[in-house]
Amino acid sequence: MRLSVEALAPRHFDGLRRALDSVAREKRYLAFTEAPSIEECRAFYASIIANGWCQRIALLDGEVVGWCDVLPTHGQARSHVGTLGIGLVPSARRRGIGEPLMRAAIEAAWASGLRRIELTVRTDNHNAKALYERLGFVVEGLQRRSFRVDGEYADSYAMALLSDEP
Ligand SMILES: CC(C)(COP(=O)(O)OP(=O)(O)OC[C@H]1O[C@@H](n2cnc3c(N)ncnc32)[C@H](O)[C@@H]1OP(=O)(O)O)[C@@H](O)C(=O)NCCC(=O)NCCS
Repeated sequence: MRLSVEALAPRHFDGLRRALDSVAREKRYLAFTEAPSIEECRAFYASIIANGWCQRIALLDGEVVGWCDVLPTHGQARSHVGTLGIGLVPSARRRGIGEPLMRAAIEAAWASGLRRIELTVRTDNHNAKALYERLGFVVEGLQRRSFRVDGEYADSYAMALLSDEP
């Protein structure tokens, strides 16, 4: 199996939506519990490319198996801040793909001028939290009942990573 990590391109759009939909439908990790429509996804992905925002795609033997994006925050005073999201389809987990994928996205985020990367992770998502801590993210707070799936609440941590650059 050959892993490659690439910047988002139109050839990834449909595979990326399928990967998002698969992880979303697990209902354990993401804010989405299913992917938006194909049209909405394609338009959103095209806007990421058009704006030069940061989205890295993991491929195994050419098939999209995951993504990591760092997307901008609204407001001039927060223009140095990006929000990170990551997901791998189940068959691609625990194979050492998450870390290089995330490192590539973080590197691209710093290169684009961002200086702080925020994320939200459910308190029961131990794998993801361990990966974030390994890469230097720090818990900044507990967000109570911040997720609700099928009527069940879950808490999450707010985590962030600061650039070494001022
Ligand atoms: C979070 C996520 C991206 C982490 O990706 P990952 O590739 O599984 O993470 P890592 O590369 O850090 O590997 C995790 C485990 O695989 C093991 N591993 C790493 N490299 C390995 C390799 N080459 N072969 C086998 N196992 C390996 C690690 O030791 C670790 O095991 P441990 O937890 O038992 O210590 C992934 O689990 C995922 O997509 N989860 C669902 C979506 C999600 O949670 N998104 C984040 C929402 S906040």
